[in-house]
Amino acid sequence: MIALKNAVFMLSLLFFVEGAPQSRFMFPGQRLYEKNCSFCHGKVGDRQRFGAKNLRVSRAGDSALFTIISKGLNRMPAWSSTFSDREIHDVIQYIKTLRS
Ligand code: HEC
Repeated sequence: MIALKNAVFMLSLLFFVEGAPQSRFMFPGQRLYEKNCSFCHGKVGDRQRFGAKNLRVSRAGDSALFTIISKGLNRMPAWSSTFSDREIHDVIQYIKTLRS
């Protein structure tokens, strides 16, 4: 019985340690954002490289965000061929958490 308890403990410890690196990303869109968008928009959304809009002060609604991200606008690239609709929605949810 004690051996079984130890085995369960070791397994849960393993799960915890294995799970830890992914927990840096609390939102599914965060990784996509940091990889593809932060170059122009900055890690927290306030960089304005190439005339990028400050996402922290943006108040655009979900459908406007979806159109801009999928179709692009001026120097903002289009992402509809890179991301699925689901991924674009994930990124939208994430960038809204950056708003101040
Ligand atoms: C090459 C630089 C660049 C990259 C990379 C980039 N953007 Fe942009 N983004 C821009 C520019 C420039 C604008 C301003 C477009 C305009 O209004 O003329 C913009 C505007 C936006 C806006 C509109 C904000 C508002 O309120 O008007 C959103 C939302 C946005 N970007 C999200 C993203 C997301 C999400 C990604 C990654 C998937 C991304 N951007 C990647 C340059 C970039």
